[in-house]
Amino acid sequence: MRIAIISDIHANIEALTSVLDHISSQKVQDIVCLGDVIGYGPNPRDCIKIVKNARFCLMGNHEEAVMFYGEDFNEKARQALEWTKEQLNSPQFDRSENYEMWNFLGGLEETRTEGDVYFVHGSPRVPTKEYMVPTDIRNREKMTEIFSMIPSLCFVGHSHIPGVYTDSFQFLSPDRLGGTYTHQGGKALVNVGSVGQPRDGDRRASYALFNGEVVEFRRVEYDVEAAAKDILATRALPPVLAQRLIEGW
Ligand SMILES: [Fe+2]
Repeated sequence: MRIAIISDIHANIEALTSVLDHISSQKVQDIVCLGDVIGYGPNPRDCIKIVKNARFCLMGNHEEAVMFYGEDFNEKARQALEWTKEQLNSPQFDRSENYEMWNFLGGLEETRTEGDVYFVHGSPRVPTKEYMVPTDIRNREKMTEIFSMIPSLCFVGHSHIPGVYTDSFQFLSPDRLGGTYTHQGGKALVNVGSVGQPRDGDRRASYALFNGEVVEFRRVEYDVEAAAKDILATRALPPVLAQRLIEGW
């Protein structure tokens, strides 16, 4: 069975619809989402409505923050968080539709295990919050502890930087891998990158395909200018969030 793994959409409907279009031509049985459907971007409601149809969606730190409190959020993320909360409670919409939004958020799981594959937003140690970034590969203590918690393969998002962390302490970027990683025993952690706010210098949306053995990293062009414009038109969102999409950092 071939699945598509998406993550970190961040209320970017332009990126999400382009990625779904791309997925529709990839002979995929299911789509799974590793969280952060909302936050930063201007279309949280539309993105939730779409992701509700995924096989499962995990809780990201932005979902957690909108339901509880984003104590570790910086000023810009907090502004976006407050605006997102207002959107999800907006009296402009049917009350039952608002309940549906909150029920979706309230029902998100933190982790999912399927066979020997583990799915989580951040890391197995701190599911919604801990980042995995390429320099971590030099942190043997962190990596060893994390690998001890992984059955075989683990898929994460959160840092928005795609790549593979191997148990021989190597970080392999999708470019270095030629876009494909074949898992042949041992343990590995795979970051699928971000659909709606890439931060690896490539502004195209990122996601991955997985057939139980092979991970294929995919990048998808989308209308970045339209997405940036959408953010700028939403006065409550910090303009730097639009700039970020254009630059891909
Ligand atoms: Fe994120």
